Amino acid sequence: MAERTLSIIKPDAVSKGVIGKIVDRFESNDLRIAAMKKVQLSRAMAEQFYAIHRERPFFGELVGFMTSGPVVVMVLEGDNAVAKNRELMGATNPKEAAAGTIRADFAESIDANAVHGSDSAENAALEISQFFAEFEIL
Ligand code: CMP
Repeated sequence: MAERTLSIIKPDAVSKGVIGKIVDRFESNDLRIAAMKKVQLSRAMAEQFYAIHRERPFFGELVGFMTSGPVVVMVLEGDNAVAKNRELMGATNPKEAAAGTIRADFAESIDANAVHGSDSAENAALEISQFFAEFEIL
């Protein structure tokens, strides 16, 4: 079933110059780029986006990192997009990410882990609405 998910290329991967290489992983695996933009998150935007993690000990660092430079935000569309994107990303901690995944190939640490992907279709819809209006998703 065609599904949408939100993907973020994080500041570490943007500053490394691997936006194109990461986008290629999606396009080569039948995930269409339905929307895409480069943005600088404000502290308030990052705090809202990661509100679910507010009580976690790493919340401050997470928000600090995500506002440390521009990110690329995308809507990916395709069959089982949520699960497929998570498979392509690999484990949250790049040290545990399977060979050939985006995080194994481009990430340095659990904070600077190259990409974010929605963890469910419900959260995908919420996350997408924080960045894109329906007319921007094509
Ligand atoms: P992300 O998928 O963007 O969702 C929350 C982020 O918090 C996660 O990727 C990691 O980059 C970051 N993070 C830092 N420490 C941890 C941790 N101990 N467990 C989970 N996520 C963490």
